[in-house]
Amino acid sequence: MDFSDQRLSYEKGELDQQSVPASPFELLSTWMNEAIEQKVQEPYAMSLATCGADHKPSVRIVLLREITDTGIVFYTNYESAKGQDIAENPNAEVLFFWHELERQIRISGHIAKIDADKSASYFQKRPHDSQVGAWVSQPQSGAVANREVMEQTFEKLQSEYPKNTQVPTPEFWGGYEIAIESIEFWQGRASRMHDRIVYTQEGKAGAESWTTKRLLP
Ligand SMILES: Cc1cc2nc3c(=O)[nH]c(=O)nc-3n(C[C@H](O)[C@H](O)[C@H](O)COP(=O)(O)O)c2cc1C
Repeated sequence: MDFSDQRLSYEKGELDQQSVPASPFELLSTWMNEAIEQKVQEPYAMSLATCGADHKPSVRIVLLREITDTGIVFYTNYESAKGQDIAENPNAEVLFFWHELERQIRISGHIAKIDADKSASYFQKRPHDSQVGAWVSQPQSGAVANREVMEQTFEKLQSEYPKNTQVPTPEFWGGYEIAIESIEFWQGRASRMHDRIVYTQEGKAGAESWTTKRLLP
């Protein structure tokens, strides 16, 4: 298959270093709200790249669940392949691509587990079946003989925890926060003259002092 003739011209917006807000969190919220308003499918879906001690990068989609004052939060199984990578190397990168807006956002930073209490309160808000599913997928990323094995475990756990009962929060499951150290906003432009503005944190994380640079596309 040859895709070399396939190309789109990006012309929906522009990004100017002089008019972007001082805090990237403001621009992140604005862009997220615009993605929601424009009905981007799964605007919260982001590619998460990690790299463990073997120096081999891995990437997968996770869902953004919160933007905090310092970073972004998602939830997963701490014993998954990504959890093992993060335990070995607490640096991660995340990418959103919103085709409808011709935008990408690239975030890099230090990643750490959030408070167990906060994870538990989010877990308890999830639909009952998803809670049961989290127990079935242990360890997430481990091999399983076939789908039947998974379904049997799911049924067994559903009878152990019927719909009106509380499913305990697994210790192996919870949130991670990526404290933003740099964040690039990319707006597609015509003739491959795309706009790229990157914010980098000056000094201590969370200090809210950022510098911006325009990058060549
Ligand atoms: C749209 C979408 C959203 C997903 N959200 C999550 C999520 O929030 N947390 C999660 O652990 N996996 C999520 N997954 C599954 C992951 O992409 C991945 O298959 C799983 O976490 C195992 O990854 P790992 O083996 O690299 O640890 C999502 C997948 C898709 C396609």
